[in-house]
Amino acid sequence: MTTVITYGTFDLFHIGHVNLLKRARALGDRLIVAVSTDEFNQTKGKVTLVPYEQRVAILEACRYVDLVIPESTWDQKRLNITEHAVDTFVMGDDWQGKFDHLSDICQVVYLDRTKDISSTAMKQAINVFVQMQKSFL
Ligand code: CTP
Repeated sequence: MTTVITYGTFDLFHIGHVNLLKRARALGDRLIVAVSTDEFNQTKGKVTLVPYEQRVAILEACRYVDLVIPESTWDQKRLNITEHAVDTFVMGDDWQGKFDHLSDICQVVYLDRTKDISSTAMKQAINVFVQMQKSFL
């Protein structure tokens, strides 16, 4: 049994997230997703439209995800890798090189991001849509 882990916020769950999770799951037998809590995001200056509990529920409903755990600090990764006997740590390539220091305890893999989509871009698109709606009123 090989275990894969990945980390992220997964706000406004989109096709980039699906592609990442599908490819991450294909690297092993079990995929764990550590989801950034609202409190942790606050420390990063990041605000989500979808609250933590709902982001967890959406990920738990995804067929590629076997277990969802909270991500509440930057430093928990070593502990998670050890306690869950993780073989492979996966992130999108926007994090290229940032987690190479974990390669002493597991394999570290960066996957290509899906082009032209992100939670940030979706929030911007929603904003444009709302402005357009207002201009028609
Ligand atoms: N991801 C991806 N392709 C995308 C968007 C995200 O592969 N187009 C991956 C990220 O690299 C990360 C995971 O999905 O490994 C969770 O990313 P997250 O930061 O939650 O998604 P983003 O859409 O990048 O969010 P934001 O715009 O807030 O940074």
